[in-house]
Amino acid sequence: MHETAALRRLLIVDPCDDCHRLLPGLESAGWDVHSCSLDLALEHRCDLGLLRLQESHLRHPDAVKDMIKRSNTEWIAVLNAEQLRMQNVGDFVCEWFFDFHTLPFDVSRVLVTLGRAFGMARLRGKGTAPINDQEHELLGDSRPILELRKLLGKLAPTESPVLIRGESGTGKELVARTLHRQSQRCEMPFIAINCGAIPEHLIQSELFGHEKGAFTGAHQRKVGRIEAAHGGTLFLDEIGDLPLELQANLLRFLQEKHIERVGGSQPIPVDVRVLAATHVDLEKAIEQGRFREDLYYRLNVLQVVTAPLRDRHGDLSMLANHFSHFYSLETGRRPRSFSDHALAAMGRHNWPGNVRELANRVRRGLVLAEGRQIEAQDLGLHVMEQEEQPLGTLEDYKHRAERQALCDVLVRHSNNMSIAAKVLGVSRPTFYRLLHKHQIR
Ligand SMILES: Nc1ncnc2c1ncn2[C@@H]1O[C@H](COP(=O)(O)OP(=O)(O)OP(=O)(O)O)[C@@H](O)[C@H]1O
Ligand SMILES: [Mg+2]
Repeated sequence: MHETAALRRLLIVDPCDDCHRLLPGLESAGWDVHSCSLDLALEHRCDLGLLRLQESHLRHPDAVKDMIKRSNTEWIAVLNAEQLRMQNVGDFVCEWFFDFHTLPFDVSRVLVTLGRAFGMARLRGKGTAPINDQEHELLGDSRPILELRKLLGKLAPTESPVLIRGESGTGKELVARTLHRQSQRCEMPFIAINCGAIPEHLIQSELFGHEKGAFTGAHQRKVGRIEAAHGGTLFLDEIGDLPLELQANLLRFLQEKHIERVGGSQPIPVDVRVLAATHVDLEKAIEQGRFREDLYYRLNVLQVVTAPLRDRHGDLSMLANHFSHFYSLETGRRPRSFSDHALAAMGRHNWPGNVRELANRVRRGLVLAEGRQIEAQDLGLHVMEQEEQPLGTLEDYKHRAERQALCDVLVRHSNNMSIAAKVLGVSRPTFYRLLHKHQIR
């Protein structure tokens, strides 16, 4: 009995008075409860989290999203009824949380939700150990992915900084992890920092650490993320969001290779390889005075660009099947294949959220699918009616039809170009020429 109780660890983030009043009930139901502020949440191991959403979290939800993404735990939101009525809050809560409770608490309901969330976290293998990143590989056999893999093989062993650019969800973090895994530093830490997700007043101490007593609330010495990466790789995600003042400090560190903790006077030598990623146009940010040119040149020694999914439709079916298998383990549903309509709808879709969008749609599809296969509706994709298509010239129609044919055939036969060409009734060279013309591969 005691053992089971010790396993059910609940973390309450940014608790309010109502949360404190819950404690006796939770503890007598066997929960081992700890609490902390949002910025320290990832330092606690827990099986389940309860987050008291404050106005500041709702105004800057990226910090919450980042924490949830990295925590590998189910989260329950606590908010008051007015907050729930605020614009976009409902969508945010539904997307990122297992469930929510409004204040004041109904203790017995909270206990039921915690039990369900705990069961679900267990089922998904969450809350026990962090996700094994080794499992996540850069998949795909389209030309951009083959070229990317080749390039990473060359860049990984070097010590140079690499700037990773690409739209959201195209695999920038995956590229950074791959570079680390294939480098000589692979046995040492890989530390990722999302520069856009840490509240501005905390970034300095988050990156550089602080000494005890450096400022009000600094009760203990804290090792910063840069120092924690010593010997390994430091991944500065969304570098374009780093405030200018911190850009100067980061540049100094990159030049001098040592840091000073906030409130400290001793320089501490730190050896890291720096990788940075951005989905914003840094050149434009430089023009507008939002990004330092000297820092840009320091980080942009080597560059990797991740291609959007719409330019490599040939990878769609492989990735979709991969996610169907992956999420079947997580959701406990059997992996399903995709119906012809679903494949056609995927081929037509523009994928603004790239691979992350595909992964989310497949996960949703797997959960919703009632039949033998996943249908377009299960993926939340629209089966387009003829009359909804925008009108255009005859040339536009021909162009669209040609592109559609290529996408459709690639979704089915991405691993055999000869068959794909044959199905369309063209020679292999013509097929490749058309792929090139439509920038599909
Ligand atoms: N080629 C790929 N093969 C397998 N999984 C991929 C691939 N590209 C991306 N993913 C998966 O898609 C998701 C999004 O990738 P990632 O977080 O690396 O993208 P990102 O470019 O950093 O996005 P953002 O700009 O939104 O942070 C992750 O789950 C990642 O594992
Ligand atoms: Mg990212």
